[in-house]
Amino acid sequence: MSQSETARITIDTTRVISEISPLLFSGFAEHLGRCIYEGIYEPASPHADENGLRADVLAALRELNFRSMRYPGGNFVSGYRWEDGIGPTDQRPRRRDMAWQSIETNQFGTDEFIRFCREIGTEPMLAVNLGTGAIHDAANLVEYCNAQAGSHYADLRAANGSASPYAVKYWCLGNEMDGPWQIGHLDAGEYAKKASEAAKLMRLQDDSIELVLCGSSSSKMPTYPEWDRISLETCWELVQYHSMHYYAENSADDTPSFLALSAELEDYVDTVAAVLRYVKAKRRSKHDVYLSWDEWNVWYKAREKSDLRGGWQAAPPLLEEVYNLEDALVVAQWLNVFLRKADVLKIACIAQIVNVIAPILTRADGILKQTIYYPLLMFSQMARGEALDLHVESPRYETEQFGDMPLLDVSAANDADAGAQSLFIVNRSLSEPTPLEIHWRDINPARVRMAQQLAGNDPKAFNSWEQPNRLTTRPIDAPEIADGVARLSLPPLSFTTLAIEL
Ligand code: AHR
Repeated sequence: MSQSETARITIDTTRVISEISPLLFSGFAEHLGRCIYEGIYEPASPHADENGLRADVLAALRELNFRSMRYPGGNFVSGYRWEDGIGPTDQRPRRRDMAWQSIETNQFGTDEFIRFCREIGTEPMLAVNLGTGAIHDAANLVEYCNAQAGSHYADLRAANGSASPYAVKYWCLGNEMDGPWQIGHLDAGEYAKKASEAAKLMRLQDDSIELVLCGSSSSKMPTYPEWDRISLETCWELVQYHSMHYYAENSADDTPSFLALSAELEDYVDTVAAVLRYVKAKRRSKHDVYLSWDEWNVWYKAREKSDLRGGWQAAPPLLEEVYNLEDALVVAQWLNVFLRKADVLKIACIAQIVNVIAPILTRADGILKQTIYYPLLMFSQMARGEALDLHVESPRYETEQFGDMPLLDVSAANDADAGAQSLFIVNRSLSEPTPLEIHWRDINPARVRMAQQLAGNDPKAFNSWEQPNRLTTRPIDAPEIADGVARLSLPPLSFTTLAIEL
């Protein structure tokens, strides 16, 4: 197929990949830079509500509708003493956070985080410190959050304002423990032993919790995928999820390859999923473990410019990546991958939510929605029901990194109960529109109810405080459906969503 040929998507609603887990649309907030302080929590701001939370940020987060929120790190958690962050705020210590070489004031801690989660209607997902922390610290935090009053830590929670337990269901067993940069880094065998003992003790506190084991912190790690095999072989029956992390970059300024990144992302999922199957078979287990991609995003510009150290300041501006159009198209594809791999991938947390490699930036006078805000919003609003296995015939193009690749990257969600179907289409072409036909094989849908698009002609264009709405999703003319076929032309460098009424 040459670039000018018509692409064709064939949809058959009986070809179901899996139910889409709502937790695929989750976030991550770390005590890092200005994510918590000046991002979520800023009592002195005119935008602050009665809890010191920024109402303008809360409104945007509610719109994004994150289903769960991972906290408090990240690298930060591996040196964090959670007891510093509870009790009267004027008695909480100012500590040196070694991970980001910043000052942690501890004005925001577990109780404030739970309040924040309730404000935005999201499920908390707490990471425990398996770096400097002992396994009893992890178990004590489970008691603090989940036990009925009547014992030391549960009584502390009650004294701090919440008689009822928080019922935190999702817990991460440390963070990126395979990374030499991690405080308290361990090798795979050591981590597996510590994680299994922590899991045992945490479960003795509350058997209903669900645990996420640390997988490799990237597919580029020298210990990948052995780390995953070793940690899973020891912890298989104790955990429900195994984590993946990945940050995409275009340091080589090779946009055609960058825009084809879903090839690498899918390969990463397939490899870790193969490790899951191997370990399950080796252990002759009936138990299943699913994937939690609990750190993912584009991150390279702010990594090169800043030295990732906060100079022992409180809330220094760190990792404040500015996102452009090509980044948003990569984020859209990543979300497509989540739907295409919905059978094994059940949790995904964008890293992070405010200021730090984030869809939202704050200033004293307001917030800015970056380009990546929009694909997140589209998926969060529209990806419901079951993911469909599509037949996509697309014109192709050449890339340095991945060879010959299709111009279109597509996913679909079908919600039969709601009579709704959604299509998510990225056109990777840099210069030419791509004509598209959509064919429905087993149904004749009523109409395309709404069509929206994020598009531009400059892959490096971004939203700024001066031009905040340069790149947003805009409504386009909804294509007609005649005899089970819809036709439209996709502009280059675009992300199009179609909301279809069945
Ligand atoms: O999200 C920023 C950092 O990236 C996290 O703290 C760490 O887990 C990862 O390396």
